[in-house]
Amino acid sequence: MNRRDFLLGTAASAGALGAAGWGAASAAAAQQLTIQPARFAFREKPTEGLVSLLPDAPPSVLYGEQGKPMRLRVRNGTPDYTAMHWHGLRVANAMDGVPYLTQMPIAGGGSFDYAFTPPDAGTYWYHPHCMTMAQMAHGLTGVMVIKEAEDPGFDSDQVVNLRDFRLDDQGAFLPHYTARGAARAGTFGNVLTANWLQAPVYDHPAGGLVRLRVVNSDTTRIYKLHLSTDQARIIAWDGHPVEMDLPLPSAGAPLLVGPGQRVDFAVRMPAGEGQTASLLAELPGQSARTMAQLRSAGANLGRDLRELKRLPANPVSRPDLAKADVHDFVFGWTPEGGPPNDGYCGSMGYSFWSINRTPWAGDAAKGTGPLAVLERGRTYVLRLRNESPNLHPIHLHGLAFVPIRSNLRRLPPLVTDTMLLLKDEVAEIALVADNPGDWAFHCHVIEHQKTGLAGYIRVV
Ligand code: C2O
Ligand code: CU
Ligand code: CU
Repeated sequence: MNRRDFLLGTAASAGALGAAGWGAASAAAAQQLTIQPARFAFREKPTEGLVSLLPDAPPSVLYGEQGKPMRLRVRNGTPDYTAMHWHGLRVANAMDGVPYLTQMPIAGGGSFDYAFTPPDAGTYWYHPHCMTMAQMAHGLTGVMVIKEAEDPGFDSDQVVNLRDFRLDDQGAFLPHYTARGAARAGTFGNVLTANWLQAPVYDHPAGGLVRLRVVNSDTTRIYKLHLSTDQARIIAWDGHPVEMDLPLPSAGAPLLVGPGQRVDFAVRMPAGEGQTASLLAELPGQSARTMAQLRSAGANLGRDLRELKRLPANPVSRPDLAKADVHDFVFGWTPEGGPPNDGYCGSMGYSFWSINRTPWAGDAAKGTGPLAVLERGRTYVLRLRNESPNLHPIHLHGLAFVPIRSNLRRLPPLVTDTMLLLKDEVAEIALVADNPGDWAFHCHVIEHQKTGLAGYIRVV
């Protein structure tokens, strides 16, 4: 076991990720991913009991190419069950990594071969869909970059994986959740990190164009983000290129990025060597916190944001609203409590939440029918109603959808896999049911998912 310790400082400098090697043929052989215990120094306190893909803590960024086959052999080097899910990737149902729904859990010492060809380019991520609370809280949340077939023309690329950890002063894990949190907005971490570091600084070419890929892989926190520079643009949302100009978030109007969501920015680096552009988060009762910094290095490349073309759209079928059937979903508390059930391998011991007033009946429960059955190739509108005061990032596997309207706000027609439902919001999303199978449909606040707010949709 490779026991590297990483030192954490407020100005820890880590290497930048160059865009070099674009278009290099992706390896045809299966990549071996072993889930194992890891060790890492947060706040200069070594923390044992993390789970990662060794030898990497944080878990490595996985690279693939749009339209090119990928083969990933996931080996379970822990004593617990697991299964790996590729969040946002529209893969065949059998490769989706949801225990009992698409595969049996991988036992300790076992492995599972995942093989798929990503149809879409963009920023995605991976996490276990079994023992989700324990394994994700312990750090097993990694980023996946699926490159466009053609180089979109950036000088460099930077992944920022936002993750909170719940640690005590010694660096040991605190309990991952509290019943109080699970029944409300979730239990928040107290060590906020970007790529497991506090405010890391990444060097990028001065005056160059950086693709900044921000991923919220936290189990709980809805990040409110903005940048310190106006030399930037939102170019993709939840993996998919945006086809309209979106306002750049600001301190007064930050961007809400829920657990599971991603935003890609194009950032033009400052011209002067040593100058920085920061990713900032608004936290309750605090001044904006720097999550990560991009620092200009070398001679000024003199690039301009206007040199970038829009990213090519992914091949997502466009909904035909004139022919849509509507299905209703209500997200709220569990009426009358209800017995605690297994929610994707293992129960948290509570049932607080429900979809259509029914909590998830348990992973392997008989008669756990789909919430809806959709006919392949047809357009559907899903009307999502939040009957609770808490926010819910509602995630659908296997299909991409377009938010179309809300009772509270104007929704830009983005292509996405996660709809962040606000308090008392009723939002409609539209999709073409073009990928057959049983697709998990759940809240990505993991405590909500594991205490009832889960279900699935069948496409036949
Ligand atoms: Cu990111 Cu059902 O998952
Ligand atoms: Cu997913
Ligand atoms: Cu929720």
